[in-house]
Amino acid sequence: MKFFIDTGHLEDIRKAVELGMADGVTTNPSLLAKETGISFHKQIALICEMVKGPVSAEVVATDYEGMLKQGRELAKIAPNVTVKLPLTPDGIRACGVLSKEGVMVNATLCFSAAQAILAAKAGATFVSPFVGRMDDVGEHGMGLIREIVDIYRNYEWKTQVLVASIRHVTHVIEAAHIGAHVATMPFKVLEQMYKHPLTTLGLEQFLADWNKSGL
Ligand code: G3P
Repeated sequence: MKFFIDTGHLEDIRKAVELGMADGVTTNPSLLAKETGISFHKQIALICEMVKGPVSAEVVATDYEGMLKQGRELAKIAPNVTVKLPLTPDGIRACGVLSKEGVMVNATLCFSAAQAILAAKAGATFVSPFVGRMDDVGEHGMGLIREIVDIYRNYEWKTQVLVASIRHVTHVIEAAHIGAHVATMPFKVLEQMYKHPLTTLGLEQFLADWNKSGL
């Protein structure tokens, strides 16, 4: 299972790389809008230098021609750029063309198995179902992940299921149980994965005993 860090924040990416847990990065326009004082392309270039794995950069055009143009420009930034396209008819059409050109595509804003099938047929490298946003509206995000993984197993499709909109550690564990290929998470979720009170307590106890012993 690969871990991507869902952020445009360089310091969080640096820390995740240092921990050895950043197999890639996903960004979106909302995340990059928080990083002021630097151009979108420059920020993506910096991230691509820090992380060797796929770095998702999203187009903001909504029409086929515009998406193709922006996608090709983004792909020129670095070989590990993955062009993020929305799961619309124009987005899936552009996905088919860019994938054939050898550009990695992340089909984003996926909320149904039907959309995930379209992404796979168009040759997307990744499909991103947004589990947290589904949970927010009373739907079952992880249920969709199970459904997509089950469907993909019936075919030779190469598209990887990238679990997005992860809000907590349980999402990551469930994604691993199901066998999703990738989990993209905010850095704070990655940090939480390390934490257990018995680890903290056990370590304190070991060190206290060691120090008392005079060894
Ligand atoms: O990058 C897309 C996705 O992970 C967004 O997450 O928390 O805004 O629903 P969120």
